[in-house]
Amino acid sequence: MEIKTFGVIGSGLMGAGIAQVASMSGLRVIMNDIKEEFVERGIANITNILSKSVDRGKMTPDQKDAIIGRIQPSISLKDMASADFVVEAASENEHVKFGIFRELDGVCAPEVILASNTSSIPIGRIAGSTKRSDRVIGMHFMNPVPVMQLVEIIRGIATSDETFRTTRDLAVMFKKTPALAGDYPGFLANRILMPMINEAVFSLYHGVGTREDIDTVMRLGMNHPMGPLALADLIGLDTCLAIMETLYAGFSDSKYRPCPLLRRYVEAGWLGRKSGRGFYEYK
Ligand code: CAA
Ligand code: NAD
Repeated sequence: MEIKTFGVIGSGLMGAGIAQVASMSGLRVIMNDIKEEFVERGIANITNILSKSVDRGKMTPDQKDAIIGRIQPSISLKDMASADFVVEAASENEHVKFGIFRELDGVCAPEVILASNTSSIPIGRIAGSTKRSDRVIGMHFMNPVPVMQLVEIIRGIATSDETFRTTRDLAVMFKKTPALAGDYPGFLANRILMPMINEAVFSLYHGVGTREDIDTVMRLGMNHPMGPLALADLIGLDTCLAIMETLYAGFSDSKYRPCPLLRRYVEAGWLGRKSGRGFYEYK
């Protein structure tokens, strides 16, 4: 099936980034969220990023306008009836995702692939909300989407070879490098990354170092582009906590218990860059 129209559910950090790369590769995009203001915020974020590319001479104003022009805003999942491939990038909450997949299964044509950008929730569980488990797959982009090379692809137990090939080819068309991970909580990326971030939060909680010293150790000592606490702020502390909860419940192993300090920050609404405050403060 030729993919011309690409649906994205969620217009937050990841949804907007995915919509941007899909539109930049020439696809028509439908970008959905629950409220008009959320979709508008997503489009404003894409416009800001593209404007910087124009200012740096990497893109013409006409190219920027064409990319934005290919993105159709949506606040109804029914709009996905005209999509040829859909990626869900709504909040990291399995009940939210189950509801979205159930509805998409009723709205989208039977041959359409429904992918999830989930960071941690097993694809087989999400596929269980549909009657098309063979056409459900994990397509896990990294943040910031326009910059990061990797797309982690996760096959659920019933995902077909054709669904895998189509998704992998799409990732390559987006100029990304796919890597295949097994369908276990956190897959590969977050099974490895998130315990490191959680341990950095425990180090802060136990007073082993200041936020700056913890991040400096990992930036200058291990050559990471950002320290783990700054990275947690970039990802979103709510998303980090949700991933740790999925690992903890999914493996029934105390080594994945979320740090109480991470939970306190999320309860206080300190979600990182997106709320203006996390481990650091943002304007
Ligand atoms: N959106 C789009 N482009 C962005 C961007 C954003 N949010 N942030 C930076 N960029 C672009 C800049 O425009 C710049 O582009 P040009 O080279 O074309 O000028 C380029 O990226 C480099 O930006 P900067 O010079 O401003 O900053 P930097 O060199 O410090 O890089 C960074 C910024 C790319 C974020 C870098 O710090 C980095 O790689 N950090 C680690 C990111 C990471 O680990 N991501 C994975 C998170 S985990 C995940 O995504 C999975 C999950 O499920 C949680
Ligand atoms: P975010 O909080 O920035 O955005 C989530 C968006 O989903 C919000 O705009 C919210 O209104 C919307 N949403 C919630 N319920 C919805 C529904 N029923 N229908 C449509 N939209 C709905 O979160 P994010 O960082 O963009 O994360 C989205 C997904 O991507 C999560 O599954 C997350 O785990 C995953 N992810 C996040 C990162 C990251 O670094 N933040 C990286 C890779 C994957």
